Amino acid sequence: MNTKLINEVKEFYITEFNTKPFLIFSPGRINIIGEHTDYNDGFVFPAAIDKGIAAAFQKSNSGISTAYALDMNSKVEFKLDELKPLKEGSWENYVFGVIAEIKNRNKVVDNFNIVFKGNIPSGAGMSSSAALENSIVFGLNELFDLGFTKEEMIFISQKAEHNYVGVNCGIMDQYASMFGVKDHALLLDCRTIKAKPFKIEFKNHELLLINTNVKHSLSDSAYNDRRSACENIAKILHVSALRDATEDDLESIKDEVTPANYQKALYVIQENARAKKASKAMEQNDIEKLGDLIYCSHKGLSEQYKVSCDELDFLVEKAKESGYVIGARMMGGGFGGCTINLIEKGKAEMFEASVSKAYKEKFNKDCSVYFVKLADGTHLVK
Ligand code: GLA
Repeated sequence: MNTKLINEVKEFYITEFNTKPFLIFSPGRINIIGEHTDYNDGFVFPAAIDKGIAAAFQKSNSGISTAYALDMNSKVEFKLDELKPLKEGSWENYVFGVIAEIKNRNKVVDNFNIVFKGNIPSGAGMSSSAALENSIVFGLNELFDLGFTKEEMIFISQKAEHNYVGVNCGIMDQYASMFGVKDHALLLDCRTIKAKPFKIEFKNHELLLINTNVKHSLSDSAYNDRRSACENIAKILHVSALRDATEDDLESIKDEVTPANYQKALYVIQENARAKKASKAMEQNDIEKLGDLIYCSHKGLSEQYKVSCDELDFLVEKAKESGYVIGARMMGGGFGGCTINLIEKGKAEMFEASVSKAYKEKFNKDCSVYFVKLADGTHLVK
């Protein structure tokens, strides 16, 4: 299904640079449960998907490097020793950030040309950013024989996001994109960076994404604020991360934090427990339980962690009302993007029709519905 995308990137590269590139495909991700737990050293349950970024690479002898973002029809030429972050929202920051982080690790990168294009809807909460970062670090690792392990590469991607993009993200997205396993979701312990794959084959249900097609502004600063609030509370509790705290621990310092931050920390502690419970439910084939946990996750994200928005809440409400979606919640950082729905097989079309109509009536805009397949992580295209 990505062959068309990969060929397009390849053909463009050949026309532009007159040489054959090698190609990387790097996927986006979904997350079943465990939201905003990754930067609290907790558990997450993501999976790589069959949508992502295709990137073509080759060395350049022209004394300069070039990057083409085909989606945006945009090109930048740059010198490797003059990299600095551009203004917020610039796609170049992903490229420059990854190169800068590689150089920080004392590895030598020479001039190169890259062309890339993706098929993940941007702002959908499906990690097009991590897919792009991973494609770049993976490609440069191949091109210049840098000898990084996959684990080192995901930390380079993450640091690029912190230092050049300005989002202090956790490690979930980069991990899922790099280490994805076809047909599996990964229960990842974000402290040890070890994951257990779970084959996803529900008997009577399937996963469906619905994109609100909105991305509310200020989501990056809201994300960073939440991360620091969590870290501050962990400090007050004398633990290295909220993963180590219990609800009782939190209760004991209730007077030292604002009610809003108390709720946020409580959400994290509870969500971390839910992610672990979800893996048990899956082991026991208890799909109803899994669905309940997913609905509870949304309630926490919306009412306690406060990263949802009207559009996401509306879609989750419609899912509940339908009677055949047994779990739904917002997915990713929040403030827009997709909901993930665990829906009875054979009901998707009906649900799509009713939810699309209701969404349009309410918000005067369209939502989009996607099925995704769970796929392998970042790889060289042979
Ligand atoms: C974004 C970040 C991740 C994670 C999620 C929320 O996708 O990049 O690290 O924190 O939000 O779970």
